[in-house]
Amino acid sequence: MAYNLLKGKRGIITGALDHNSIAWKVAEKAHEEGATFVLTNAPIAMRMGEINDLAEKTGSQIIPADATNIEELTHLFTQAQEVLGGKIDFVLHSIGMSVNIRKKIPYTELNYDYFMKGIDVSAMSLHKMLAVAKKLDAINEGGSVVALTYMAAQRTFPFYTDMADIKAMLESIARSFGYHYGVEKKVRINTVSQSPTRTTAGSGIKGFDNFYDFADKIAPLGNADAESCADYCITLFSDLTRMVTMQNLFHDGGYSSTGVSMDVMDKIGGEG
Ligand SMILES: NC(=O)c1ccc[n+]([C@@H]2O[C@H](COP(=O)([O-])OP(=O)(O)OC[C@H]3O[C@@H](n4cnc5c(N)ncnc54)[C@H](O)[C@@H]3O)[C@@H](O)[C@H]2O)c1
Repeated sequence: MAYNLLKGKRGIITGALDHNSIAWKVAEKAHEEGATFVLTNAPIAMRMGEINDLAEKTGSQIIPADATNIEELTHLFTQAQEVLGGKIDFVLHSIGMSVNIRKKIPYTELNYDYFMKGIDVSAMSLHKMLAVAKKLDAINEGGSVVALTYMAAQRTFPFYTDMADIKAMLESIARSFGYHYGVEKKVRINTVSQSPTRTTAGSGIKGFDNFYDFADKIAPLGNADAESCADYCITLFSDLTRMVTMQNLFHDGGYSSTGVSMDVMDKIGGEG
């Protein structure tokens, strides 16, 4: 059911790689809620071509941009305003990549070049996007920026390796930039800390399926899926959350507040 929560709003949505991507669902929901937006992803990700289907379905243009490249980001924010006919009201940062995870390198043996790459792509890219947007004055007053993160920024999940540190940095950038952009332009910046979700990025993590099931059995509501994450992002883009900024918001079915569940207790120890 749609509520017209984003009627008249213009956005930029990063990170829709295929129909499993969290960003894909956000784009579908934003369209349903009356927003117009451009889709963007790294030029290399376009080769798979699935994003064209999403663009067609949502009546959106695609503007390729590597989120680590200031020139390309400047082109993205400039073009997006031209295509959409005005300043931007919401931005989704849905970008994550760790070469160390891809290559299954353990945390204590990280390759530092890969680590730097992961930081640039997955955390510093948020700073770069915000810096470009601010310089161009591309985001409307009261605009909303949401970046996706994971709870490994607060608690240790051994298989999440360098992405844990990278997400901690991402969340910190949201707070730090949120202060400056808030004071100057009333732009809000938040991170949404999402449950494990079956996507290309998610499934690349070692032991993902076991962990997915574990989290599902701990969370009182079960794991939050990509579609409900998209719903939450829509509320954060809407005016209903106009005073929410600089927050890390858990969207995880209650996992982050649960020590253990009876389900998991029963599975490991029976009645005791
Ligand atoms: N899947 C999960 O379990 C989970 C849980 C919590 C948070 N997240 C976060 O959600 C976000 C989206 O991931 P997803 O799970 O939908 O996976 P996904 O693989 O569908 O999306 C990741 C996106 O990042 C893009 N990307 C990579 N390098 C880029 C670059 N240099 N410039 C621009 N874009 C680039 C990819 O092309 C891809 O579209 C990520 O930040 C991820 O860490 C995912």
